[in-house]
Amino acid sequence: MEQKRSSFTGKIGFVLAAAGSAVGLGNIWRFPYLAAKYGGGIFLLVYILLSVTFGFSLMIAEIAIGRKTKLSPIGAFRALDKRFSFVGVLAAVVPAIILPYYSVIGGWVMKYIVGFVGGQGSAMANDAYFGNYIGSVTEPLVWFATFIGITALVVLLGVDKGVEKVSKIMMPALIVLVLFIAIYSMIAVDGAWEGVLYYIKPDFSKFSIMTVVAAMGQLFYSMSLAMGIMITFGSYMKKDISIEKSVHQIEIFDTGVAFLAGLMIIPAVFAFGGEAALGQSGPSLMFVTLPKIFDTMPGGAVIGAIFFIMVFFAALTSSISLMETVVSTLLDKVKINRKLCSGLVLVFCLIIGSLSSLGYSAWSEFTLIGMQILDFFDFISNSIIMPIVALATAIFVGFFLKPRAVIEEVEISGEFKQKKLFSVMIRYIAPICILAILVSSVLSAFGVIKI
Ligand code: PFF
Repeated sequence: MEQKRSSFTGKIGFVLAAAGSAVGLGNIWRFPYLAAKYGGGIFLLVYILLSVTFGFSLMIAEIAIGRKTKLSPIGAFRALDKRFSFVGVLAAVVPAIILPYYSVIGGWVMKYIVGFVGGQGSAMANDAYFGNYIGSVTEPLVWFATFIGITALVVLLGVDKGVEKVSKIMMPALIVLVLFIAIYSMIAVDGAWEGVLYYIKPDFSKFSIMTVVAAMGQLFYSMSLAMGIMITFGSYMKKDISIEKSVHQIEIFDTGVAFLAGLMIIPAVFAFGGEAALGQSGPSLMFVTLPKIFDTMPGGAVIGAIFFIMVFFAALTSSISLMETVVSTLLDKVKINRKLCSGLVLVFCLIIGSLSSLGYSAWSEFTLIGMQILDFFDFISNSIIMPIVALATAIFVGFFLKPRAVIEEVEISGEFKQKKLFSVMIRYIAPICILAILVSSVLSAFGVIKI
């Protein structure tokens, strides 16, 4: 793109925009179900440790690469070292894999808004409701298409600024509501305290390499890392804004929201279904558990509706930035107009997302390496491609670009307090850990090892 790059205005502009992209279904839907599945407290501990070391270093590197080159991910890697151009290309593929299935979940959220508004709250609290719903063919497809349709419309009409304005109000409100629901369920739902302990107290006997694999995949997903997004954000960042401080703020914000979402959901799962319920539900956890809490709450239907509306906005801002990324990457490559390009991306998403949606209904028998279609796309992006991108980024920064270059970029806007941690992480610890994780997740997916 030959256009002049605009920058974020004000100190807080960058952090808000990056946090807006970071906070989404990943925090509210994905984090709690992974934490429930992979050992509660031990998952939380591993996640937080990874976030302040590994996530921190990778985010610093990505933002610095973006700010230094002022280019999109593909252009940035190409400009810095031609041999690493493939990293930018691979990173650009990730949003295209995530967006379709993200929209399927977005569709589930819309269905739940309508359910609560339409007085179905109690029916939705029934265990079988969600399974029956995603097991039906047409309705989830319609909601999915509506969600991706709205996303495409926003991108096409260029009204994302308007959506952003709404979400600036919605996001803090969502956090308050999540906190309220968490406190309510701890106080009012019998047996929830046991779940709080499960979530907060690490049980080291539940630790396995899978805890780390899942936590690392979630870190990428939730912080929008290893997919070029932070490089793009960095390319719009002004030189006088501290990269280090911003990264800390995004990190605290993103992890804080995920933590609260876990606190809202996991104790309640425990209370309603006992420990056995934790490992089983997977992606459906939020949709099965929350309606049960709302059902016990005075005015629960209204609160349920408000909650899902807010989640819808968090999901929409994320899906918009995912689609923007896919569209602008494509526009850089092929000379077509923006409308046609958005249309093509929409058609692509409709096809691929339908597969994910049907994977729970008509094609539920069909599995890919033992996974349902949605889980498969989630696995390919989070556990395979993103680790490869992160690994290549770490090796590139550590040994080719050299940490010094990133440190210098960060120091333009002040002292880089944790530069030692950064250098050691990006050069040695990150590559070794990611490689180990990548190998074990591939081997386990193909059933070679059991972890
Ligand atoms: N980080 C988002 C989430 O946690 O839901 C997912 C995401 C949104 C990734 C937007 C990338 C992106 F551009």
